[in-house]
Amino acid sequence: MSLVINGTAVAPPADPRVSLLDYLREELALPGTKKGCNQGACGACTVLADGERILSCLALAVQYDGRAITTIEGIGGEDGLHPLQAAFIEHDGFQCGYCTPGQICSAIGMASEARRGVPSNVTADLTADATMTREELQERMSGNLCRCGAHNGIIDAIRDGLGQELAA
Ligand code: FES
Ligand code: FES
Repeated sequence: MSLVINGTAVAPPADPRVSLLDYLREELALPGTKKGCNQGACGACTVLADGERILSCLALAVQYDGRAITTIEGIGGEDGLHPLQAAFIEHDGFQCGYCTPGQICSAIGMASEARRGVPSNVTADLTADATMTREELQERMSGNLCRCGAHNGIIDAIRDGLGQELAA
């Protein structure tokens, strides 16, 4: 059994009860993924599993045997920022930054859902691809809370940083 974290195969946790979030932070020393509520309510712990956004606090690490997990450390860093990270800086999409890794992972997963034609709760026409209006983006990102209230900048950053992906 092995998990693939940011392109590297790693051994599973010795304790099968460990959450993916704790495994990333405490066993793999990848602190970019944040622990907010630890009960599925805030989105701070969002990572990508084969490109799908998931809440790592609600997942057991052993459930992801053989799956490719991407954390914020695998999206971009000192060697080069992902365009969405650069857009967060440009648009003041954060204040304390605690929610930001989850916001960025969630937005990348959200763009993939939009490209696949997945509707949201505010999509009016379920027979057509949704237009990524501000309302659509706000709804699709509503699972990621920002206690600093940077939501307007977050949506501006997503529109700028993922504009082409959302339109594709
Ligand atoms: Fe996972 Fe809040 S820490 S949803
Ligand atoms: Fe502080 Fe979002 S930037 S919680």
